[in-house]
Amino acid sequence: MSQILETYRKKHPASERMYDEACEALPSGLAHDNRRVTPFPIYMDRAEGAYKFDIDGNTFLDFVMGHGSLLLGHLDADVCAAVKAQLERGTHYGAGHRGEVRWAEAIKALVPGADRVRFTSSGTEATLLALRLARTFTGNEKVVRFYGNFHGWHDYLISGSKPPFSLPGSTGLPEEVEALSIHLRAGDIEAVRAVLDQEDVAAVIMEPTGGTQGKAPVSAEFVRELRDLTFRRGALLIFDEVVTGFRVSPGGAAAAIGVTPDLTALGKIVAGGLPGGAVTGRGSLFAPLEFTGDAGRDRYSRVAHPGTYNANPLSAAAGVACLEKIADGEAQRYCDELADRFRAGMTEVLERRGVDGCAYGASSILHIAAGVEIPRVSSPGELAEFDPAMLVKGMGPRLVHFRRATINHGLDFMGPTGFVSTAHTEADIERALEAFDGAVADLVAEGVF
Ligand SMILES: Cc1ncc(COP(=O)(O)O)c(C=O)c1O
Repeated sequence: MSQILETYRKKHPASERMYDEACEALPSGLAHDNRRVTPFPIYMDRAEGAYKFDIDGNTFLDFVMGHGSLLLGHLDADVCAAVKAQLERGTHYGAGHRGEVRWAEAIKALVPGADRVRFTSSGTEATLLALRLARTFTGNEKVVRFYGNFHGWHDYLISGSKPPFSLPGSTGLPEEVEALSIHLRAGDIEAVRAVLDQEDVAAVIMEPTGGTQGKAPVSAEFVRELRDLTFRRGALLIFDEVVTGFRVSPGGAAAAIGVTPDLTALGKIVAGGLPGGAVTGRGSLFAPLEFTGDAGRDRYSRVAHPGTYNANPLSAAAGVACLEKIADGEAQRYCDELADRFRAGMTEVLERRGVDGCAYGASSILHIAAGVEIPRVSSPGELAEFDPAMLVKGMGPRLVHFRRATINHGLDFMGPTGFVSTAHTEADIERALEAFDGAVADLVAEGVF
């Protein structure tokens, strides 16, 4: 039996029991596909700062960080104080409230081109609404999207994020819906031009630092060309900044690259680690959401958008507290520096242990491509020409071994990906590198790499 697996089982008996219980109620014992680890996932008990603690009493240095939503780490004092204060005043008014106005103002102050804001409950809902606004504005239905870019799980955009890109991203997708997406390789501006010349396209949507949180990087030059091309052809440009928003810079990747899209989909950090999302962008695109008082127009020519948890007061409180705290860019600079150190250190470990690949990523996002035949790059842009299918596939079937080994050494990653927060310290990164070295040594000893 694998030593890594044996250690995993020995260290997590309570999680194994909880998983058996969970499977009675939850499909595969899970609430999110990407939380799967075999033979069972780890169940957490609590979290604080940069750490998580599981139900077996193990401690983890956390790099999942709420799937990237916790730029300020777990239980940030200001976010918690704002949420507690709101909790005393009610959790749901079923009505407008001061918090949603402050929240929208905070977004407007940071995100380029944010004239108007509409809140949603998640990033998935944000890309869904962005498409509805784009289709309404242009009168076109088709959407151009790029291989390996993830935009949430709704029917319109779930396909094309995971290889093989030519197959549907899920069962249960109507063919007519699938036919509305045109899948292209990011980086190939001529391919986009050819499509926009031939088809009536509502929007081009992309993750502006590249697909799957930058795992398949894209050059800033391509993003600029795309802005110019979509503008000339009358298709809207939508940035999915659910991950990059407020992380890559206070104004997200748009501000960092210097490109203003027509619409931006936001999620994760926007709500300070609570559930939430938003669409923002050019004012005229939001006009169809406005009520005019003309009953005919309001019933037949409006973009409808209800949603029980839109701008929930608790999420608004957390969002405002978080956005105020990260507005000056200091948090991002701090996290980027630590992430640079961590990525370089992980690449050094792989080199020293004779394992192919490297750690790369934009800003404070980490992608670990261990055992993957790519150069040891110091900037993700150097991978912009690489096959996105290969980059997104990454470690492939070896990933589960990597997850078990890193968990055994007290590191929690989101698959091969991680996020650095302001709660991490230099000492945490040194500790994480030691743990990473131990995990890679185990994987080499077992012949995984
Ligand atoms: C780039 C991107 N867009 C959209 C989403 C969907 O967001 P949510 O999980 O909040 O629905 C995600 C989630 O990870 C994402 O990474």
